[in-house]
Amino acid sequence: MEIIRNIKEMQCFSDKNRADGKKISFVPTMGNLHEGHISLVRLAKRLGDIVVVSIFVNPTQFGPNEDYRSYPRTFEADKNKLANENVDVIFYPEASEMYENPKTFVYVEDYSNILCGKSRPTHFRGVTTVVAKLFNIVKPDIAVFGEKDAQQAFIIKKMVKDLNFDIKIETGKIIRESNGLALSSRNGYLTEGEHNRASYIYKSLLKAKETIENGERDGNKIKEAIRKILNENNVGKIDYIEIVDDDTFTPINKIQGNIRILIAIYVGKARLIDNMRVEI
Ligand code: PAF
Repeated sequence: MEIIRNIKEMQCFSDKNRADGKKISFVPTMGNLHEGHISLVRLAKRLGDIVVVSIFVNPTQFGPNEDYRSYPRTFEADKNKLANENVDVIFYPEASEMYENPKTFVYVEDYSNILCGKSRPTHFRGVTTVVAKLFNIVKPDIAVFGEKDAQQAFIIKKMVKDLNFDIKIETGKIIRESNGLALSSRNGYLTEGEHNRASYIYKSLLKAKETIENGERDGNKIKEAIRKILNENNVGKIDYIEIVDDDTFTPINKIQGNIRILIAIYVGKARLIDNMRVEI
């Protein structure tokens, strides 16, 4: 496994492998890898010949009062996990290598200021900018993102379509703990009690799915039922509960077609997100 820290070197590696007819699959991460990331790496491995994983805690996607400085940086442990998965390259740049007085940003309108974008107004601009840069650096054929960040995955697919990146975007399923809590680097901020209570996020999503499958079509009633479960179990301060059409990512009230229920909630020091697709 190679560790590449320099942009030019990464581009040369990819040019050479592409010229040799190798398919490059890419998993962008911010490190602090857990089983959710590892499942994306395994998916990338099945889809391509060469797997590149980037580890970069991207400053531009954190708001001024967010956890950029304290975000867990665990490179040695991450490196061992990726070596065990036979990853070919870790792209691990410094912030100064990635950003030199930047004046160019990528922004996907309409989808970057809803849901998580409401409470994190600069977040998706930072994500799409760094992902566009990483695509130009790693030059992958395929890139893999997690379904837990469903809004992020949707926005990236839209960016790829709008800007004609010749890259296939794949998504990997949400990996959960045994109590249902979706794996996230930010789960590490939770106390034991918060951790137990956070399992009600998944339970509320399951209940909502069941209610829809039993015929409920009023989105407001479903959101209310979720709110009740979260509040009754003191999970935390709800940021949003929303239902979107899963093909267009537009919020809807009347349930029809394929929909996705999304939740963001502050639990202790962590802001957690989760979601569930329901097909009817
Ligand atoms: O999902 C993440 O970990 C990040 O948003 C990403 C895609 C690596 C961009 O920094």
